[in-house]
Amino acid sequence: TKTVRPLLAGNWKMNGTRASLDQIKAIADGVKAPLSEKIDTLLCPPATLLYVATALCDDSPLAIGAQDCHQQVSGAHTGDISAEMIADCFGTHVIVGHSERRRNHAESDMLVRAKAQAAHDAGLIAIICIGETAYERNSGQTLDVLKRELIGSIPDGSTAQTTVVAYEPVWAIGTGVVPTQENVEEAHAFIRAELIQRFGKEGANMRILYGGSVSGANARDLLEVPHVNGVLVGGQSLKAADFLAIYAAF
Ligand code: G3P
Repeated sequence: TKTVRPLLAGNWKMNGTRASLDQIKAIADGVKAPLSEKIDTLLCPPATLLYVATALCDDSPLAIGAQDCHQQVSGAHTGDISAEMIADCFGTHVIVGHSERRRNHAESDMLVRAKAQAAHDAGLIAIICIGETAYERNSGQTLDVLKRELIGSIPDGSTAQTTVVAYEPVWAIGTGVVPTQENVEEAHAFIRAELIQRFGKEGANMRILYGGSVSGANARDLLEVPHVNGVLVGGQSLKAADFLAIYAAF
């Protein structure tokens, strides 16, 4: 009954060296037809592996993306990489506004929006992350936080082709704690309604991913929830066998 083409995305965070390239190759080889005709797959290794990773995926439907980009095209920004540089390495997607960036680098909604815009300008798909902390959930602010982050972080002119929203409750990231299906349903239905209100038909078709402690064991239950159009996977994307177990759950 879901009409939006799902996306399985992996985020390696600050993990992976050249020794991990065989895992990328195994994932690229593992995302085969016929399932790959129904779902998109993406892996976001660290920037150091981007260019080599895209070469490894030449004959695979697996797309390669980055985990962050700078909001400007070039210039005096030591240590940063631009969306254009990601595209130059044949990356097709970039994650922006991950809660670890928001927290560790004090990234605001306005900055995340500028990064997503830079991604769009470079022809990349932006995966824009939002999600409440445990404190915000426990104090009843979840939907307010999601609304504020949605309004603030998604550029005007975003379309279903250029933009993916990832709902990652901060308390579920790397903790093994997964929200109930009801919690996920409430958040995703709310996000969908907000996207439709702002972007109309495009908003109806934008993919909304769930992220936070996704594994082969819980993926099926999560994917069953209305308006869950895929998952964004951290820890369980590092090993090909774990990631492919999630793939098999679609
Ligand atoms: O971006 C994905 C991530 O934050 C979830 O991490 O390790 O809980 O799957 P993990």
